[in-house]
Amino acid sequence: MPEGLTKFFFSTSGTEANEAAVKIARLYKKPAYKVIVRYRSYHGSTLASISMTGDYRRWFIEPHTMHGVVRVPEPYCYRCPLGLKYPECGLACVNYVDYVIKNEKNVAAILVEPITGTNGVVVPPKEYLPTLKKIAEDNDVLFIADEVMTGWGRVGDWWAVNLWGVKPDMLTTAKGASASYVPIGITAVSKKIADYFEDEFFAHGHTFEAHPVSLAAIPAVIEEYRRLDLLSHVRAMGEYLSKRLEELKERHKSIGDVRGVGLFWAIEFIKDSRKTPFGTYEDKYRGVATPVDKLAAELLSMGVYVFSGPSWFIIAPPLVITREQIDEGIDKIDQVVKKLDEQYQG
Ligand SMILES: Cc1ncc(COP(=O)(O)O)c(C=O)c1O
Repeated sequence: MPEGLTKFFFSTSGTEANEAAVKIARLYKKPAYKVIVRYRSYHGSTLASISMTGDYRRWFIEPHTMHGVVRVPEPYCYRCPLGLKYPECGLACVNYVDYVIKNEKNVAAILVEPITGTNGVVVPPKEYLPTLKKIAEDNDVLFIADEVMTGWGRVGDWWAVNLWGVKPDMLTTAKGASASYVPIGITAVSKKIADYFEDEFFAHGHTFEAHPVSLAAIPAVIEEYRRLDLLSHVRAMGEYLSKRLEELKERHKSIGDVRGVGLFWAIEFIKDSRKTPFGTYEDKYRGVATPVDKLAAELLSMGVYVFSGPSWFIIAPPLVITREQIDEGIDKIDQVVKKLDEQYQG
């Protein structure tokens, strides 16, 4: 765990990890209760966690979402939501959060994926996360890192916050904690927060919380990650994958951007030189299969699984992947993207 996170609530999913986090934040910071999140985000599927989600998956349950969620723009420099360019923008997206906190009042926490996951692997500029943490600190607001996707070596470090030396007040995680063999969710808190609940009742729990089978998996998995020296392996394979993806981008007009860290990447597809996307969140909401979804389906029939957003693929292979397997995956992506080029780029 990042330094300073000393106590844990164990549940069985990332969703529940975030659910516990928002309850802890609201009890600890009461009467403050608002949570700041970003539009391009996914935090889970139950009522609180889907309400804190920014993307289209939240739309299905509106207007029945949890109150007290405030959304801010994300550091998506490829298509800046503020129409600005880094670094001339002066990090307007993050500085705006300070304005939001001061004008909202009663903000308890900021919840962010340090590197946005399914919404396109948005790696922030280097100043972004430390600045966001400082804004949280200066305004006495808790900083919660959702590392459900980015934790456990995915980015070549145990945690994505470590890439920028940021120490969150809380961290939520799941998936890789058991290498996904058994269900597990973890809400980690600082000593200060933990101490508060020595005297105050944390009214929360599940039948399967802290389940011995799930808990037994965590140290076993950590031992295996260490035995295989997986962090070094991810960094080495990540460098190789990055090189292969950059080559892919050079070869295909339909690829507008590739971005990522370690074994956590996105390929963003564009229809033309004006960066027109192949699909939108509205398409996903309506259940329309975009050309990128169709490409992903074709790849699956060829034995390669990628998660498809409206106009991007997420490339997040198992951490034990080899160079040969990366080559196989890239070659097959190369074959299907050729068809996209032929169809759309004349
Ligand atoms: C960043 C992030 N947070 C939370 C979740 C929810 O986790 P789970 O599906 O284990 O409930 C996910 C799921 O993919 C996720 O990507």
